[in-house]
Amino acid sequence: MLPSVWPGNPIADSPHVPVLHREVVAQLGLEPGMTVVDATFGAGGHARLIAEAMDGRGCYVAIDRDPSVRDHFGAFVHDHPDLRARFVRGNFGLALHNLATTGLRADAVLFDLGVSSMQIDRPERGFAYATDAPLDMRMDPSEDRTAAEVLNETSERELSLLFARLGEERYARPIARAIVRRRAEAPILRSAELVELIRRAIPTPAQFGQGHPARRVFQALRIAVNDELGSLEAGLHEAVAILAPGGHLVCISFHSLEDRIVKDFLRREAHGCICPPDMPVCGCGQEPRLRLLTTRVVRPTPAECDENPRAASARLRAAVRTDVPVQVG
Ligand SMILES: C[S@@+](CC[C@H](N)C(=O)[O-])C[C@H]1O[C@@H](n2cnc3c(N)ncnc32)[C@H](O)[C@@H]1O
Repeated sequence: MLPSVWPGNPIADSPHVPVLHREVVAQLGLEPGMTVVDATFGAGGHARLIAEAMDGRGCYVAIDRDPSVRDHFGAFVHDHPDLRARFVRGNFGLALHNLATTGLRADAVLFDLGVSSMQIDRPERGFAYATDAPLDMRMDPSEDRTAAEVLNETSERELSLLFARLGEERYARPIARAIVRRRAEAPILRSAELVELIRRAIPTPAQFGQGHPARRVFQALRIAVNDELGSLEAGLHEAVAILAPGGHLVCISFHSLEDRIVKDFLRREAHGCICPPDMPVCGCGQEPRLRLLTTRVVRPTPAECDENPRAASARLRAAVRTDVPVQVG
């Protein structure tokens, strides 16, 4: 197996190391001349490997809601002059819907969810708990609500539910209470303030041994600010709609909430029938639209996690679009 750094590696200089890249290329079923939609372009790390597998020929549609990735797209286009490439800025659900209305049909769609290294590593974007910065966390800076606004304008009960559901935070209630008390004096605007407040709100033993004590609250805020779970549901629906028969759908998620949505969606679409389980015969007549390519979730190898610790939580699932009834085994 090739290591991540090999002579001529097209991603050697990428600011974001693409995760599970061999598995992505294998599962997308690529051939020269295909039409590929990359719903989460980022730094174009996967894009470069996909373009290489297509021999630099075909059509590449790159979507991202973060306008700062345009420079990476420009470099990608420059390096692949024979590829017909275009960039669509926006949320992938709406972007895929609009592309489908133009008549575009994709042979492969890739989702590599979550945030990029460029977003995490730029302190001013406010995604990181390790550096003090304004609490922003918007992937698309033109969106309305920042993390600070969510934090300062949401009721204690809703904050507690948000931390528990989206962050799976055990101490959601005491943290929400501490936030509401503090913001009664002055709004909470910076990440260091929030980190300190979380540390004080949780029992001392919980501050050690389970990762950074603010990790789960930051995850919850980020998911809420960017409506990540709602966007994912919409994006998956639109992806199936835009796939040509025989087209491949590959999705990489980074936490259990996302993976559950992907897993349930793929299973539902591979099952077809939506009748209640106690119905003796099918009354809905819905045929499966997907066949699963991965019956079990694909995880990175220990070697990949050693090389790129951010890959550790990645989970890949894939399916193929079918318009003929299939046997699901
Ligand atoms: C993990 S990065 C992708 C990295 C990319 N595959 C690479 O190899 O460079 C995720 C990217 O998806 C974008 N993104 C996340 N959710 C999105 C959504 N709902 N719509 C459009 N873009 C989204 C983020 O802005 C980010 O740039």
